[in-house]
Order: sequence, then structure tokens, then C-alpha cells
Amino acid sequence: MAVPHLTELPPTADTLENLFGPHLSAVCARTAAALEACGYGGLLVHSGSLRPIFQDDRTHPFEVNAPFKVWAPLSDVPDSFVHFVPDRPPRLLFHRPTDYWYKPAPLPQAYWTGGFEILPCADLQAARAALPEDLSHTAYLGEDFGGLAGWAGLAPNPPRLIRHLDYHRAVKTPYEVACLRAANRRGARGHRAAAQAFSAGGSEFDIELAFLAACGQREQELPYNPIIALNENGAVLHYQMLDKAVPQRRRSLLIDAGAEFAGYASDITRTYARESGDFADLIGRMDELQQTLCAAVTAGIDWREVHLRAHRLTAEVLVEADLVTCSAEEAFASGITTVFMPHGIGHLLGLEVHDVGGFARAPDGGDIERPERHPYLRLTRVLEPGFVVTMEPGLYFIDPLLAATRADRRGRLIRWSRVESLRPYGGIRIEDDLAVTTTGCENLTREAFSAERST
Ligand code: GLY
Ligand code: MN
Ligand code: MN
Repeated sequence: MAVPHLTELPPTADTLENLFGPHLSAVCARTAAALEACGYGGLLVHSGSLRPIFQDDRTHPFEVNAPFKVWAPLSDVPDSFVHFVPDRPPRLLFHRPTDYWYKPAPLPQAYWTGGFEILPCADLQAARAALPEDLSHTAYLGEDFGGLAGWAGLAPNPPRLIRHLDYHRAVKTPYEVACLRAANRRGARGHRAAAQAFSAGGSEFDIELAFLAACGQREQELPYNPIIALNENGAVLHYQMLDKAVPQRRRSLLIDAGAEFAGYASDITRTYARESGDFADLIGRMDELQQTLCAAVTAGIDWREVHLRAHRLTAEVLVEADLVTCSAEEAFASGITTVFMPHGIGHLLGLEVHDVGGFARAPDGGDIERPERHPYLRLTRVLEPGFVVTMEPGLYFIDPLLAATRADRRGRLIRWSRVESLRPYGGIRIEDDLAVTTTGCENLTREAFSAERST
């Protein structure tokens, strides 16, 4: 069966073209303001370098720098640059080597290219020659590509400027939301195929192949390596093994996998039970909890409060599921909920799966602290229209955390017989991506699953 391609997914090329112009204008405006606030006259952003593998002439898979992708949706052109000087169109110095070992990427011509002056550059020397002679007062974003020291005058990675840019990157433009919507659509398609592969008896590896084929993307194009965990592997939060063997008894699947669209990520998790019973009921209950949390997401709420509320609701689930011997209040106050749900309730999403700017109090200010005892929360800001966040409550049976709890005085608060009966199922996570609006939020993931169901 032919894999559906980008043009068959919304948005259409026309829509993208209409949205990209205002996006680029917004990026130019906020960059100009950040440069002015930090005392720079221009910005040079590197797409990234190919990293050689020790003792071979091969390289690691290329990972583009996100501050470059915010300008141009190019994920596969190392050693290219965007050069921006306020009040002038940005210039793209596009690396186009003469090469017969690897095929150079063709000069781009797409919905976004009209906003740029594009210059093909055969090598770094050609890129340097295309830049102004005097690079003083020009900020540089990216790693040292070996030769950067010779580009006199550049200010590499100024922390204050980075902070300004990261702070504003949290608010997505309508173009970015459209890309995130499409990344969800693609991800939902992959999830649907993965669920079918699970039903059909596939191994973790088989399920990954089904996901990749349905998304039409290879692993290195995805925003992160899929987490595909059968049975107790679901208790490893970022499980990575992709076992090729089918376990003798298949009880559950936790799949956390996203796709990419024009450089933007989706981050989606679903959990399935093979049979009805306590674990299947618990999945249903966690889905309800997740929907309750999603329904309250709107501009103006403090994400730290969302996280703490998730713990209060998790405490209620622990009581209902007979996993604790105490009240919900005590399960929350004692920190027992963090044994079953040790990660943050969600994070910013965008060009990176864990996007930047989650802690910034202001473009020029310090960080907003995490709540005490919650070290893994990655977002502490008050939500604004245009933020895109994940909502990902979980409930896991994690051996090392349970063992540590058993050894301390909180051990008496856990009903160990119940834990033992559910431990072989690993854990549950339900994760959707939400675009925050002035009146609530758009659930990009649930909409994508509905749209996929109707195809
Ligand atoms: N997929 C990683 C996360 O959910 O944060
Ligand atoms: Mn996530
Ligand atoms: Mn995830």
C-alpha cells in the first residue's frame, strides 16, 4: 500500500504558504527586538555539523539545530546558515558541495522559500565570503564547526540573547500550530497502525516498523525514538530496547511515539491492555483523569498548579484502585503519588519534543522554580495563548522506586498485594498535545485520531 505523503495531509501547500509569511515576519520582529535589547546588529544561525564516527569515515545521523529550523524547515542540510540583519530579508547560505560520495540536497523551492535570499555555498569558505567582512556585533547560534574561531568578531551563543529568543519561542505562530496539527495527524496514523500490530501479535520491533511505515518516516526523521514497551517494560519511562522476540504472554502495550512535520514534533502516548480486567479498567480511569486535566487547560493558568492537581487526582485513583492503604489526602501529602507518577505532567512542544523556554520568568529574568519534591517538571510558566503543551499523566509500577519506598516509612501506605498483581503490566501513560487558546485549548491529538478514524 502506498504511504500517504505530506501533500495528502492537512495543511495544504497553499495554506502553508499563506501562513509562512506572517510566521517569518513574526520571527524577524522578535529576533530584531531581542538583538536590540542585547546590543547586537545581526544574527548568524548554523544548521549544525555532521559528527564523524571514531576511526571511520562515516558520520552520526545529522540533527539540525532548532534555532535554525525556526527560520527554515530544513532538517538535512549541515553547514548551512541563516543570516539576519533587522529590516532586511533573511539570507539562507545553503550548503551545496560538489560531491560524488553523497548526493547534495537540491536548492529548495517550496512554500517558504519566497521569504529568503538563497545563496548556494560550496563550502564554509564560500559561506564566509557571502557574509559581511565585519562580523562584530553579530551574534552566532550553534556549535563550533571547526573554523569558527577564524570568523573574527562573532559573539558565539550569548546567553542573554538565547534567553530572549527561547522565551518567545514558547508562543507558537499560527503556522507553527498548523505544523504541529499535521505532525499529530501523522503521529495518529502511526499509532493506529501500531495498535493493529499489537493486536496482531507483533513484537516491540514489529510495532515500531508498523509505526514508521504508517508515518512514512524513517527513525532519524522522528522527533524522538519511539518508546514501544510490552508488559513490564512499560515501567521504564524512556524504554528503548525494541525487543524482536514476542513475549510468551502479551499483557499490555505502552507506546510513546511522535512524528514530525516541517521540523515540528508530535508527542503521543497510548496504553493498551490485551484483555479486559483490572489493568484495562485502570487505563480507562487514567484516560478520564487525563481528559479532566485537559478540560481545564486555558491561558492564564499556572502549569505548576496543573502538575499538583494531577497528583491530587492520581491520589484518588490510587485509593479507588486499592493500591494504597491510606486516604487520598495522605497519598498526596506523603509524596506516595510521586512513586507511581515520577515525571512531569507535561512540557512545551514545538521544534524540539521538549521545547525551550519552559522555566523563563521573563525574557530577561530568572527561572520560575519547580514545586518542591517535583524535580522533573519541565514547565513552570503561566500558560499563554499560542503555547503548545503535552498532557501526560501516568501510573507505573517501577521496581527501583517501589523498592526504595518499601524500605522507608512510607512503605506501609502501599497495598503490596495489589502492586504485585499489576506489576507485570508495567504502567500507563496517556499523552496528548494541546494548543492553548484564550478560551481553552485545542486537543491536536484527539482531533487527529478522530480525523484518522474517518479516513
Ligand atoms: N516522549 C517523551 C515525553 O513524553 O516527554
Ligand atoms: Mn511528552
Ligand atoms: Mn511522550
